[in-house]
Amino acid sequence: MKNKRIRVVVFGKSGLLGGEFFSYFISKKISVFGYDSKSCDITKFDQIFKIIKKIKPDIVINCSGKINIDKCEEDPVGAYMVNSIGPGNIARALKLLNKKTAFFHISTAYIFGGKASGGYKENSDVKPVNIYGWSKFLGEKIVEQELRKNSLVKYFIIRTGWMYGGFRRTFIEDIIDSLRTNKTMKLVTDNYNVPTWTGDLVRGAVALLKNKKLKSGIYHLFNSYKKPVAKYDIGVFMAGILRINTKRLEPCRYKDVSKIGKPGNTILINSKVKNLPDWKKSLARYLKLKYWNSFNLK
Ligand SMILES: NC(=O)c1ccc[n+]([C@@H]2O[C@H](COP(=O)([O-])OP(=O)(O)OC[C@H]3O[C@@H](n4cnc5c(N)ncnc54)[C@H](OP(=O)(O)O)[C@@H]3O)[C@@H](O)[C@H]2O)c1
Repeated sequence: MKNKRIRVVVFGKSGLLGGEFFSYFISKKISVFGYDSKSCDITKFDQIFKIIKKIKPDIVINCSGKINIDKCEEDPVGAYMVNSIGPGNIARALKLLNKKTAFFHISTAYIFGGKASGGYKENSDVKPVNIYGWSKFLGEKIVEQELRKNSLVKYFIIRTGWMYGGFRRTFIEDIIDSLRTNKTMKLVTDNYNVPTWTGDLVRGAVALLKNKKLKSGIYHLFNSYKKPVAKYDIGVFMAGILRINTKRLEPCRYKDVSKIGKPGNTILINSKVKNLPDWKKSLARYLKLKYWNSFNLK
């Protein structure tokens, strides 16, 4: 992005993806303002509107969310407040600002039921199987409803898969720990998605922004794949890259590790925009950048 005078607001800046977006804009010397739950609670419309009115942003990115599936089941109201009402509040604040803005709202493949063998397109039927999925789906719907007739705010609802990156620990770090130590780790073989590097996702989102032909709507952004990926496949791939024996990785079924319903195969199909790089290339790059020295690899 060339225009250094543009102003960006990132909600969820303290999180995995929000941190990546924030640091991207800092690296491009673009004015970026980041918020976490303490500096702006997105369930409170007044707090959002005060910020939006003051900053008058050109781009707003909502990476905030309640993402822990078990905790969403325990506290459904909390999940719906942050994942559904919160994005709706941001959309309404932008509508009231009445200024040309691009709004990115991050959603998930878990709005789908997980039974389709061929994957899900942007317009496939949704069928969430847990509170997290329902609350994210409702968030999408409220954003669409608030902004679908608005010609000033261009919205991008971005659905993605299992994310990892440099801004907090994820399953990738858990696998690294078990490969490094004597701890055995159970990894599921019957639950599929695609690991997606936050760095690639941010670059993909910026590409959407630069493409003036794109309209408001739903976009699927995730690292490319040749076949659906289970967490066990990821562990085996990582062990190969880091030249470690896989004996500490124990294959298991999803029902052995959780009682909460989770969709089985939420592979997304991207039928609208350029694909992100292949997941194996990106994960290998991430591991090399972050762990090469600590594993004494050349
Ligand atoms: N992680 C994944 O694998 C994945 C996959 C698909 C889609 N997504 C979606 O991508 C988005 C980002 O995920 P992530 O992994 O980056 O999440 P994350 O690391 O858990 O970060 C969540 C962010 O939301 C903020 N937040 C929570 N409650 C809030 C509230 N009431 N008001 C304002 N901010 C609040 C948190 O702030 P505090 O630090 O102050 O709590 C934190 O900055 C989420 O919408 C998620 O549904 C994630």
